[in-house]
Amino acid sequence: MQVVHTTTGLQNVSGGAIVPTMGALHKGHEALIHRARDLPRPLIVSIFVNPTQFGDGDDLQRYPRTLDADLAAAESAGADIVFAPDAEAMYPPDAAIPVPALPAVATAPGLEDAHRPAHFSGVCQVVARLFDLLRPSAAVFGEKDYQQLLVVTEMVRREGDRWPGLHVVAHPTVRDGDGLAMSSRNASLPPGSRNQALGLYRALESARRAAADGAEPASIERDLDRQLREHGLDVDYAAVRDARTLLPPTGTQPTRALVAARVSGVRLIDNMAV
Ligand code: PAJ
Repeated sequence: MQVVHTTTGLQNVSGGAIVPTMGALHKGHEALIHRARDLPRPLIVSIFVNPTQFGDGDDLQRYPRTLDADLAAAESAGADIVFAPDAEAMYPPDAAIPVPALPAVATAPGLEDAHRPAHFSGVCQVVARLFDLLRPSAAVFGEKDYQQLLVVTEMVRREGDRWPGLHVVAHPTVRDGDGLAMSSRNASLPPGSRNQALGLYRALESARRAAADGAEPASIERDLDRQLREHGLDVDYAAVRDARTLLPPTGTQPTRALVAARVSGVRLIDNMAV
């Protein structure tokens, strides 16, 4: 496996598959890398903690950085190249890296966009920069960050020929045995708070069952919110939305339940098809 830190190291790379990450790799990331093994080579894992997608109150400084362990994990999951640029390679001091026009799904739903106002412009900026540098034919993203997956998919569609032939591949959320969605932030959960964190999964599971029994979105949303609070969580949102636009459901399209909540200052998100 090759490790590349500068953009000049990428000169002959194009047409492969990329798995963009911020490192602190766990089994969720590894599943994405495994998924990419069937896609065109080279298989590139990028590792970059992107400052432009963190807001003022966010945890940029506290974000875990574990490069040595990440390189080992990426290699055993099947990566050909790890691209781990330093900040100057991604954002050269003498060149402004543009932010693509944001699609509606990045601004209209009132979900992550409302609670982390600059987040998706930072995500689109860094993902577009990675696509420009690596010119991949496939990019794998997790459903764990469901709104992000839709934002990137829509950005790629809108930018058209900027990245010829690029496909966004979605991978389902990977969970621990008890249902907690794997996340780099789980490592920051204080001891004893796992039961609270599991509130997100339990609330989503009940939502899925209620929807299968024919419950209305508004009543599912109330139950989601109630269960999250019963677990002692600070709720940012608990919503049932159209699975494609993330706007309120119209009655005919598939729907998705999405939740974001904080436990001891650690912000967790999760979602499920309902
Ligand atoms: P990061 O949080 O490191 O996640 C990298 C990718 O792994 C994302 O596509 C995310 O959805 C996926 N992922 C994380 N946990 C997962 C899980 N439990 N199951 C399945 N997939 C999971 O998302 C980012 O980084 C950044 O915003 C990035 C896209 C790299 C841009 O900076």
